[in-house]
Amino acid sequence: MRGVYVISKDSYIAEIRQPEATLSLLTDTGGMDFMIQEVSADRPCCISPGNDLELTEFFYVLEGFILLSTEDGEIRLEKGDSFYVRDIVQDLPVKTPLGAKLLYVSTKPVFRYLYGFIGDLNELLARTEKKDIYTMNHGKRVEQYSIQICEKMGLSREITNTLAVSSLFHDVGKCFVPDVILNKPGRLTDDERRSISRHPVDSRRLLENKFKERVAAVAEQHHERLDGSGYPYGLRSDEILPEAKIIAVADSYDAMTTDRSYRKAMSHEDAIRELDLGSGRHYDSSIVMALNDALKDQIRTRTAEKPEQ
Ligand SMILES: [Fe+2]
Repeated sequence: MRGVYVISKDSYIAEIRQPEATLSLLTDTGGMDFMIQEVSADRPCCISPGNDLELTEFFYVLEGFILLSTEDGEIRLEKGDSFYVRDIVQDLPVKTPLGAKLLYVSTKPVFRYLYGFIGDLNELLARTEKKDIYTMNHGKRVEQYSIQICEKMGLSREITNTLAVSSLFHDVGKCFVPDVILNKPGRLTDDERRSISRHPVDSRRLLENKFKERVAAVAEQHHERLDGSGYPYGLRSDEILPEAKIIAVADSYDAMTTDRSYRKAMSHEDAIRELDLGSGRHYDSSIVMALNDALKDQIRTRTAEKPEQ
């Protein structure tokens, strides 16, 4: 049935675990986040003012009770009670003597910002790669290829270090793309394509509060192409960061040489031929050449190391 999306019990997109509370994102749709917040017993916490006047945060008590410390005194809210905050000017302390479970709805995305500050990106990456059965360890492989390209091209330590982090986490924003869309074998609808093409921007949001600006900016551009046909911004050659051009080649090579739902993995030679065809239009030819040289060296070394039969 169109338009009905079921989220089964205990399944969520991502989770932020802290000693005082666990926040699980059930879904983010229509620009809103729907979350479950489990607050630990007797841990002081508070709702802080944000800088977005349009943001409304709604809380509904599912289990336990909470005590809100307002200017008018303490208010006790039990299971079935709810409250919302909008444009508050000071912290609102919330006490949970025995712990509580709340439904938390925000009218603007807040989860990905919180995740960027306090979430565990390695855990999120593992969860994201598990969602798409064809991308297991994709980040690790793209990182390896990117570093090999850097070494072949003699690039600086600084560029290599930026790339190592950015290439590992470049697709982490895919955590917000529903599984059914990620694994859909047939043609995508416009809406589904829009949902996928948002992931570089989400990767940036998740990375920007944890790493230097350049790491986040590179991840955001990994689907841009030299002729402007890429996304999310349709940037052209000179506008694309050099590190993002490297991830574009490493990422595409890995996609081609891995089994997908609609085709078997290509051989190294076929993948390089395909990348060569896109050189100048989509990919930087010197990067394609560097990857080919690096991997040829590797294949040669591996063959030489094989014991004779
Ligand atoms: Fe991607």
